[in-house]
Amino acid sequence: MFVVSGSTHQRLGVALAQETGAEFCGVINKRFPDGERYVRVLRNVAGHDVTVVQNTFPDESIVELLLILEALRESGAKSITTIIPYMGYARQERTFQRGEAISARAVARPVGALSDRVFTVSVHTDEVLSFFGCPTQDIDGLQEAVRYLKGFKPGLVVAPDEGAREWCARAAKELKAPLHVMSKVRVDDRTVETGSGKVTVKGLTVVILDDIISTGGTIASAGRLLKDAGAGQVLAACTHGLFIEDAANRLRVCDDILSSDTLEGVYTRYSIAPAIAAAL
Ligand code: R5P
Repeated sequence: MFVVSGSTHQRLGVALAQETGAEFCGVINKRFPDGERYVRVLRNVAGHDVTVVQNTFPDESIVELLLILEALRESGAKSITTIIPYMGYARQERTFQRGEAISARAVARPVGALSDRVFTVSVHTDEVLSFFGCPTQDIDGLQEAVRYLKGFKPGLVVAPDEGAREWCARAAKELKAPLHVMSKVRVDDRTVETGSGKVTVKGLTVVILDDIISTGGTIASAGRLLKDAGAGQVLAACTHGLFIEDAANRLRVCDDILSSDTLEGVYTRYSIAPAIAAAL
């Protein structure tokens, strides 16, 4: 088996090859003067099973992924498994107003058409999986987060909103810590209002856990309430750390920020490679 990774996931691709005993296959990846992309897979993959690792975020990664998949098909790969650690556009899985696109479907369809199966990781909603039109599986990134968080011995797990309740409850159970769920009202794309309810946190190490940190508004708002209530240490943990705009600044209220390598960045503290390798 070969593992091929696009530019969003060089490190994860190498880690995955090591975990699965596959060979890592490099890709020449460049741009023409007009900005169009060129890719060339560097090994002869004819007759081999190939796993591709690449996000559909940011936008340009989508074209890169499609070119890699097309190159593998053209080269006669026996099977193509596409791993999308962070699926961009998964948050628009339906239309909210007339005239909108189901963006998740627009992205999933061409990827699925060139893949034999597709794996996502803690995708925002399972509904997007059917859009690929081929066998799919969502890998649970929570296990790796929990494994990493055990070292901090948290005294409380906080879900920053109702949407995070289910998987925060699972994490709290495994961390043997109580769960507290906050209420959140989204004011606009960058602003939320959070209610903490009655919570006792004096001196505790508290983990706020979410699937995605984007602008950091959700976590910053919850973190401030917990600090004001006297929490000893506030950790913000997520699977997918986008950290856009001034998220880093907003998140200063937290003592530490921990995210996985589904999006590789400065807050990447743990890898989801073992979970992917197990699923493969
Ligand atoms: C919402 O459904 C998600 O679970 C996250 O809470 C949200 O994407 C976080 O966004 P932000 O960091 O911009 O508040």
